[in-house]
Amino acid sequence: MNRRSYLKILAIETSCDETGIALIEASKNKFKILANELASQIKIHQKFGGVVPNLAKREHQRNLLPLLIKALKESKLLKIFKSQFLISKQIPNTKYKILNTILEREPELLAQTKRFLNKYKKPDIDAIAVTCGPGLEPALWVGINFAKALAKIWNLPLIKVNHMEGHFFSFLLKQKRENFQFSIFNFQKSFPIITLLVSGGHTELVYSPSLLKYKLIGETLDDAAGEAFDKGARLLGIPYPGGPELSKLAEKGNPKAFNFPRPMIDSKDLNFSFSGLKTALLYKIQSLKAKNHKLKIDLAASYQQAIIDVLVKKTFKAIRIYKPKSLVLGGGVAANDLLRKTLKEKIEKEFPDITLFLPEKKFTTDNAAMIGIAAYFRAIKKDFVNLKRLKAEGNLGF
Ligand code: KG4
Ligand code: ZN
Repeated sequence: MNRRSYLKILAIETSCDETGIALIEASKNKFKILANELASQIKIHQKFGGVVPNLAKREHQRNLLPLLIKALKESKLLKIFKSQFLISKQIPNTKYKILNTILEREPELLAQTKRFLNKYKKPDIDAIAVTCGPGLEPALWVGINFAKALAKIWNLPLIKVNHMEGHFFSFLLKQKRENFQFSIFNFQKSFPIITLLVSGGHTELVYSPSLLKYKLIGETLDDAAGEAFDKGARLLGIPYPGGPELSKLAEKGNPKAFNFPRPMIDSKDLNFSFSGLKTALLYKIQSLKAKNHKLKIDLAASYQQAIIDVLVKKTFKAIRIYKPKSLVLGGGVAANDLLRKTLKEKIEKEFPDITLFLPEKKFTTDNAAMIGIAAYFRAIKKDFVNLKRLKAEGNLGF
């Protein structure tokens, strides 16, 4: 691991309905995304109104290897064995047995992996990172077993990454400058940090006193913010995942047209609750006699405003209690323009000394680059995990 000043990490993400493979190169003052490949399964799950775990598992199995080849090619790390006529001889029988055991439950992926390992050489990388949770366990296992297989055959260390930690680090990723400057030293001066993590499965407020230290200080007691967006969208006739579409509709509507509840907004703790809000929207829709486009956009705007009001109020409550130096936003809902704008305006007005870090929109939803960057911080601390201990942890927390 110490042969050069930077690390090249292969990152694998399969926690939900996006298969992600990324290759990143990182040192203490520079990050480079060599490749960031994604295969979305949204179309497949759409007709079921949500993610079907076994379908996700099947799709991850199909997607991982083509994405890996694409990512390695893009990173100029794909090296073919010269003696192609010896194709079946590249992996010794003992290693075949190991592969058979590790990928026992992923037969489709096993066959592809064998072909791949017989054709291509070990790439010039230093470690393999994989999301272990939280997420859908059947989906997580595919990525984990794939990571184990590659790590074993290539003799590389494994890094376990918490998916939500990936969302936390996503603000460090930059799309335009593929080789972007960064200083760990300066980053460490941004702590303590409060992070609002808002995704399809989670809504969490996290306090980080220093790098890689997290304390969960608030969470949703029922639906997550992204789920509230998706369920609200569904009630408005927008297909899954309707969050982005609902917020687009809301732009043209009047956020004060309907007065939806702001659940738990004044509760003493830092927790959230969104399921009552969705019910309120359902009752409102049922009570309306005529339904036209104007009503729809007003409902969308008022509903979105209620979600954002609660998220923002609780975040500022956390800031008052914990007095951080920085505020970070992460997760799929971090793409929401109203949330971004409101946090920015309120920070500038009420806490001008606090730095707000917003992720670029491209990196808000699930991707493997964020897993790679989180893994880098673990790798420099030599925080590797034993292959045998690595398992899917659907409810992995901070
Ligand atoms: O983080 P993510 O990609 O997946 C999980 O880890 O869950 O988050 C996906 C969630 C979905 O619920 C989606 O509707 C929501 O993020 N989302 C949005 C927006 N873009 C994505 N919600 C509100 N406004 C958006 N612009
Ligand atoms: Zn996510």
